[in-house]
Amino acid sequence: MDGAVDGQKTKAAGGRGALGPRGRGLFGRLLEGLRAAPAPRNEAMSIAIASGKGGTGKSFLATSLAVLLHQMERRTTLVDCDFGLACDHLLLGVKPTLTLQQLLGGQCTLDQVLMQTPCGPRLLPGASGVRRMATPTDKDLIAFARELGVMAGREDALLLDLGAGIAPATVLTMLGADWIVLVTQPEIAALVDAYAVIKCIAQLNQKARFLVVVNRVGTPGRGELAFQRLTEVAKTNVGVELHYLGEVPDDDSVMQHRLGQLPLVVTEPKAPTSVALRALTERLIQLCGGLQQRVVKGEEGIEARFRQHRLFL
Ligand SMILES: Nc1ncnc2c1ncn2[C@@H]1O[C@H](COP(=O)(O)OP(=O)(O)O)[C@@H](O)[C@H]1O
Ligand SMILES: [Mg+2]
Repeated sequence: MDGAVDGQKTKAAGGRGALGPRGRGLFGRLLEGLRAAPAPRNEAMSIAIASGKGGTGKSFLATSLAVLLHQMERRTTLVDCDFGLACDHLLLGVKPTLTLQQLLGGQCTLDQVLMQTPCGPRLLPGASGVRRMATPTDKDLIAFARELGVMAGREDALLLDLGAGIAPATVLTMLGADWIVLVTQPEIAALVDAYAVIKCIAQLNQKARFLVVVNRVGTPGRGELAFQRLTEVAKTNVGVELHYLGEVPDDDSVMQHRLGQLPLVVTEPKAPTSVALRALTERLIQLCGGLQQRVVKGEEGIEARFRQHRLFL
């Protein structure tokens, strides 16, 4: 991260007195700031899949993207960051015995929890129905940042499937990612909520990079119209430029009816929805500069960004 953020960090730590918001001492925070900057390293491009409104199709998109990126020869891990209400394992046809909950609790290692899915990408499954996971502690977040750093060192693409809305851990994951894919629908409630997310993130990081997918489009071309409205509002009100990734049709065959059923892009690769998802993935690769590992300075990697941004939540 740049010097401005370091400066803010020192100010934030000093301004809040000896104890941080989650009970960490000023001394510990200062020591953290003084740690030698880690060496440059190769790291995956990280992409957070987010939305304002719930049920817009984030998990459907995230799992489809993970499979397609794998098919396009990008080393890919999907991380289920819907803290407390995870479901990506169901959509990718695997049954986890260990989840992010045990990983963050120190009860297992990253390699024990990571799953190879039948369609190719790896999955870090999340916990479902665990209230404690819905509000991760500062210790959880630091452990999560460290594991994200390890995964980023191994992959080309790190997809982070989020829960809806602006809960602190969700906002933090968006701030830590290289790109944010906002999944919305061509209806006013979803567009208004998408704008609310953009506004919230832009207040914390004006340089955040947003891509927009309009899902469940009934009439071809409606997605682009919805995007134009959203981009105009975002530009005028918060000075943020959005990029259009594409639209996905509203299609009943998206729904997976039984456990073990694989995603549509695998079962019906030639269906119009799969074709649209493939075009969208190709555009994502193009917009993200090839979507492969690149060199980052140690203090600019995902772990460092995550640790720094968490000081402002
Ligand atoms: N393009 C689509 N056409 C039809 N149904 C869809 C489409 N995208 C998602 N859905 C359905 O909408 C519901 C919510 O999708 P999901 O991916 O779980 O949303 P989120 O992760 O944003 O909560 C699921 O039942 C899913 O099958
Ligand atoms: Mg979801």
